[in-house]
Amino acid sequence: MSPKHLLSINDLGRDWIEEILRLTESFAEVSARQIPKVPALRGKNIAWLFYEDSTRTRLSFETAAKRLSADTMNFSVSSSSVNKGESLRDTCLTISAMGVDAIVVRHKSAGVPWQIANWIDASVINAGDGWHQHPTQALLDSYTLTQKFGALDGRHIAIVGDIKHSRVARSNIEAFTALGAEVTVVAPQTLLPPSLEGWNCKVSHDLDAVLPTTDAVYLLRMQLERQKDALVPSLREYTSRYGLTDERLKRLGSEVVIMHPGPMNRGVEISQAAADDARSVVTQQVANGVSVRMAVLFLLLGHNPDEETIEETL
Ligand code: CP
Repeated sequence: MSPKHLLSINDLGRDWIEEILRLTESFAEVSARQIPKVPALRGKNIAWLFYEDSTRTRLSFETAAKRLSADTMNFSVSSSSVNKGESLRDTCLTISAMGVDAIVVRHKSAGVPWQIANWIDASVINAGDGWHQHPTQALLDSYTLTQKFGALDGRHIAIVGDIKHSRVARSNIEAFTALGAEVTVVAPQTLLPPSLEGWNCKVSHDLDAVLPTTDAVYLLRMQLERQKDALVPSLREYTSRYGLTDERLKRLGSEVVIMHPGPMNRGVEISQAAADDARSVVTQQVANGVSVRMAVLFLLLGHNPDEETIEETL
């Protein structure tokens, strides 16, 4: 049976991740059509509940829903009754009472998507909860890597930067290793969590030692909005030790893939030239986000594996 919610990558396991990547392939074909629209989710209603800012995740979910012919409810926290003190629970119950099939939620607090899944009957999709999880980012990154490499078994991926505050790092380590890759996180001690117990990755503080061994280098944004103290002496020093600078770009292998979830701080964790280099797949990641989110919405809301194949549906 298809999963009801998408809360965490760990809930999926390798089989469901591979099923979503397979569905993504079909929806990428739909997205390439002259009229990129199918009736797969006609009659379904999806609400966006973004308590944190977003460009890529929100717009790609909206585009995905439109391409699947779903109806959507646009909820803007800044112009809602949240500003009159309405609680998260009452907000969710209110939206649920109007009839929704899924809520896509982003919130600064870890665990909020799980709370919502306990309060309402609709499917809940985690679009990022605090430092904790960002499962659709991990799926689109996995899809982008499989486009480049085929299977990820035995591939080595370095995730570099502000690991401590990164839900992308947590989700991507789980997804990449579930698909057979090896992950090394590269960061100063101050940008690592206090404990890495249970994290399925190696750790390094030396980017120059790791780069020659990687198939992909995944740069993370310094999440200054989540940092209470200064965790690096200066951004300039951080860039010189952990940034993908022009100098490191010259030494990078010709087949190494450069990735970033966005938004990028050009000149800090990634140089202008590295962001726009032919090895960079940053815009491909964004484009794949639409197809992956179509696959996720379809799997949770529209797919009945007992009745029809995806090809029959589309
Ligand atoms: N990668 C990502 O989550 O981007 P947004 O914050 O713009 O959604």
